[in-house]
Amino acid sequence: MTAAQDPKDAFLALTQKISRERGMSCGSYKDKCLKRRIAVRMRARGVHTYEDYARLLDSDAREYQELLDALTINVTKFFRNAETWNALRPYLRELATTRRQLRIWSAGCASGEEPYTIAILLAETGVQGSIDATDIDRLSLERTQQAKYPESAFTEMPVDLKRRYFRDGEPVPMVRDLVHILAHDLTREPPPRPPYDLIVCRNVVIYFERQAQERLFQVFVNALAPGGVLLLGKVETLFGPAREHLTLVDPRERIYIKPDEGSHPPVPPLRNTERGSGGEVP
Ligand SMILES: C[S@@+](CC[C@H](N)C(=O)[O-])C[C@H]1O[C@@H](n2cnc3c(N)ncnc32)[C@H](O)[C@@H]1O
Repeated sequence: MTAAQDPKDAFLALTQKISRERGMSCGSYKDKCLKRRIAVRMRARGVHTYEDYARLLDSDAREYQELLDALTINVTKFFRNAETWNALRPYLRELATTRRQLRIWSAGCASGEEPYTIAILLAETGVQGSIDATDIDRLSLERTQQAKYPESAFTEMPVDLKRRYFRDGEPVPMVRDLVHILAHDLTREPPPRPPYDLIVCRNVVIYFERQAQERLFQVFVNALAPGGVLLLGKVETLFGPAREHLTLVDPRERIYIKPDEGSHPPVPPLRNTERGSGGEVP
């Protein structure tokens, strides 16, 4: 019989295994979030140690997919925080005064409610544009592609907009056609098709370690066109070197603008972000 591994080592071994085998760079995420999500799956399967759970993953492909889905946390809604989207409207109009077509990136788009919300805002404000919708999670991207939504996705959306832009839970073609879906890992890959006039990245960096957040903010600064806008989630705040290159124009809604003129912060190279320590068994 082999001796049980120290829980910290076993947690680290498990996250390294996931990174290695499934390409999700666990080292970029907060331990607390990873542990909470892994604990949910371990409880669901009646497993008590990280080692046993790692063994289960080897023999159960469906559980591996369940775990990845749990780790990527893809809760979202159309017009999530409706006031934020209202606050964004004037910036869209302002951007459109100097550009014929806005280039937009919805980074960490989950099942597509966010990019389709942006497409509806474009239609509503009479602004031309196209949206790159990206996510690391395969299942989320499939849902974005299918674009067939349950009633629960619409609870924050004004009813008149739903009536105008949806048929049987599906966005109408003029909305759908504005959204281009791409697989993309924010912790590892460069922005898909810069420069962007608007980058929307909400409720994603909150799960990342500080170093990964800081790096991503610098990537966003460089991916924005001069005069471009960055929208973060309500509880997310820009910090680090990127802070000096963007102006906070709406502190409540976390809207930042890149001045027309300005230097770019250097983006630190990607490091091996796997941590050397773990934590307690959940
Ligand atoms: C809570 S959802 C946010 C969805 C939407 N932005 C919103 O605010 O309603 C977080 C999304 O980030 C995605 N995500 C997590 N890690 C990512 C990564 N490294 N690269 C790209 N997307 C990631 C998840 O798959 C998930 O769909």
